[in-house]
Amino acid sequence: MKAKRRVVTAGTSAPTPRRTPTVRKLKSAFVPVASRPRASGPAVAAAAPEEADARSTSVDLTVDLGRGLVLPNPILVASGTFGYGIEYGDVVDVDRLGGICCKGTTLRPRIGNPTPRVTETPGGMLNSIGLQNPGVDAVVEKYAGTWAGWRVPVIVNVAGESVGDYVEVVKRLDGVPGIAGIELNISCPNVGRGGLQFAIDADAAAGVTAAVRRATDLPLLVKLSPNVADVRPIARAIADAGADALTAVNTLSGIAVGPGRDRPLLGNIYGGLSGPAIKPVALRIVYEVCQVVRIPVVAIGGVTELADVLDFLAVGAVAVQVGTAIFADPTLPVRLVDELAATCRDRGLAGYRPLIGTALPNKAAAPSSKGVEYRP
Ligand SMILES: Cc1cc2nc3c(=O)[nH]c(=O)nc-3n(C[C@H](O)[C@H](O)[C@H](O)COP(=O)(O)O)c2cc1C
Repeated sequence: MKAKRRVVTAGTSAPTPRRTPTVRKLKSAFVPVASRPRASGPAVAAAAPEEADARSTSVDLTVDLGRGLVLPNPILVASGTFGYGIEYGDVVDVDRLGGICCKGTTLRPRIGNPTPRVTETPGGMLNSIGLQNPGVDAVVEKYAGTWAGWRVPVIVNVAGESVGDYVEVVKRLDGVPGIAGIELNISCPNVGRGGLQFAIDADAAAGVTAAVRRATDLPLLVKLSPNVADVRPIARAIADAGADALTAVNTLSGIAVGPGRDRPLLGNIYGGLSGPAIKPVALRIVYEVCQVVRIPVVAIGGVTELADVLDFLAVGAVAVQVGTAIFADPTLPVRLVDELAATCRDRGLAGYRPLIGTALPNKAAAPSSKGVEYRP
């Protein structure tokens, strides 16, 4: 039976009503980075991780995503590109990451889409994995115990085909030690509404967010899709429905043609485009969203070097996730942590917050009826 972790408001001895805003004491959130004990984490091949820690910890890189989820630094790994974290334990000191978003987790196991499922594209890749995963109960059983021993917060990416699916998955994750938060992948077809994706409709996106909000006190991140004309009303609806933070963006819908040109290449026909090719789109969406919501925005899309991180911070993101680039270099995210700290030191900054929002307009842009302020 899973151990229930009840959240209590600091300084209160009476049981806390379930819907009261809470202070969640996460290990990683409140222990100063420099003084943290090293957890009995995974074995690491990289040389002298303590030295690396010292390089990056004189600068305050902590970031508050709301509801007590305070990350040690703003560099996370994106869902679907870092497994459950455990797979990378031999090559990466996962405890030096700002956070891990694990592979999309569904109520029941899924075998995923027919092959081929991935193909390279100029500046990126297309994937149609189809949410292959062992199901929420197996994820909890196999991985949560290990996560609980790590200081890096693990955020479980949750997917479903109905509001009921999402709620049930989240209920099974609620209170499980080792699970620091939920990231809702709403780029999934809502079977109850003719397969319309939750993420492309403000009402559907808000509906699933509100239902999940009612089901858990865990910090709740909701992941935006770039496959919409104007993301701003959707972002606002999700924020109003109770999300603690937004993550932006998921993959762009695309296809590739097979070698004989007689059919599309991917077994699922459609795939999701990721990698450097999507960075300008992700930047534009983060720029737009940061001007219309007050909750933190975590950027994702094509990060391969520090300049990308700095660009996303400049348009208002408080943190970034690294995805596709991990396949080429799994050590990149940890290196970015050190490089961000170094650039702050070089600029005489005690923390990285002054880098956030520097490229945003002083006055929020008027909402666009077209969605994209592009004139050919
Ligand atoms: C192979 C692969 C699997 C992915 N699986 C998921 C997933 O399960 N859930 C999710 O929300 N996003 C998933 N994504 C999307 C990424 O988390 C990320 O949003 C996207 O790849 C853009 O970031 P990038 O350009 O840095 O890769 C996946 C991406 C890739 C490449």
